[in-house]
Amino acid sequence: MQKDNSLSMKGRILSILKEKNSIVSGEKLSSELGISRVSIWKHIHKLREFGYDIETTPNGYKLVNSPDVLFPWEFPGRESKILYFPELTSTMDVARDLARDKCPDFTVVIAGRQTKGRGRLKRVWHSSEGGLYFTVIIRPQIPPVFSSRVNFAASLTLVRTLRKLYGVEAMVKWPNDIMVNGKKVAGMLSEMEAEADIVTFINVGIGINVNNDPTHEEFEAISLKKITGNQISRKKLLKEFLNEFENKVDVESLEKVIPEWKHYTMTLGRHVKIVTNQEVSVGLADDVDENGALVLKLKNGSTKKIIHGDCFH
Ligand code: BTN
Repeated sequence: MQKDNSLSMKGRILSILKEKNSIVSGEKLSSELGISRVSIWKHIHKLREFGYDIETTPNGYKLVNSPDVLFPWEFPGRESKILYFPELTSTMDVARDLARDKCPDFTVVIAGRQTKGRGRLKRVWHSSEGGLYFTVIIRPQIPPVFSSRVNFAASLTLVRTLRKLYGVEAMVKWPNDIMVNGKKVAGMLSEMEAEADIVTFINVGIGINVNNDPTHEEFEAISLKKITGNQISRKKLLKEFLNEFENKVDVESLEKVIPEWKHYTMTLGRHVKIVTNQEVSVGLADDVDENGALVLKLKNGSTKKIIHGDCFH
C-alpha cells in the first residue's frame, strides 16, 4: 500500500491545534513540523475544504470545529492502514482486492456511503450518508474451520462498545445482528480466503445505522441517533470499536470468544425459525458450538446444527 506522508502531516497539524485549543502561529507549526509556512497554509486550506472550521487570525490558526469525517488522520497510529472513500460501490469489493494484494493485517476500508452495499444472503444493504460502513481485513493464524470466531469477536466487540459509549442494551441476534429494543442497529458480513489449512484473510464488513434513517428501506431497523436522541460521532465510535476489536482477534482471545459472546445474545433459549435459501428449520435455540453453529433442538427431540441463515425469534 502506498504511504501518503501528507496524510499524517494533516493529522499532526490537527493534533497541535486541538491540543493548544487556541491560536497557533504559522511559524510555530512550521518549526514544530519541519515544513515551510506555505506548506502549512496549503494543508490548512485542504483541511478547510474537507469541512474543518479553521480560523485564520493575524496571529495564526485556530481550530474552531472538526466535522465528523473518517479520514485516515482522524485515527492517529492507524493512518497508514486506513482508507477512506466518500463514496464506493461496497467496502467489501475494495477490501477483497487489497487483501489479495497482500495489504497488512488490520487494514480498514471505510465508505461515506455505498452504491452497492451488500448484506447477508445476497441482500442489499442500504448505505446512505450518516451511517458507518467499513470492512476490516484480518489475517489470523487460524484454520478456516474457526473463521466464524472472527465474526463473533466483531459482534461481541460492537455490542460492548455500544453499551459502553451510549448506555444502550445492545444484544446479538444469532449470528451477528446487533439489536437494540428488538430493532436492528448493525449487521455484519464476512468473506474469507484460505490456503491449505490456514486462513489468508477474513474481511469483516460492518454496517451501523448511526445518524442515517434506515426506516424507509427496513421497517425493523433503527439508528443510534434515534435511540439516544443525539447526533453520534462516527469517528469516536469507530475508534473505540477498532481499538477493542484489535485486542480480540489474536489466536488466544479467539479461543474464548464464543463463551463470552453467549452472555450478550438474545437468541439462546428461544423458539426460533431459521431460514436459508434452501430450507426452513424450527426449534429451540439450545447452544452455539465452538465454530459458531446454532444448535437447534427439534420437536422430535433430535438436534440440528445450522451454520448460516436468517434467524426469527
Ligand atoms: C447484514 O446484516 O445483512 C450484513 C450487512 C453488512 C453491511 C456492511 S456495510 C460495510 C460492508 N460493505 C458492504 O457492502 N456490506 C458490509
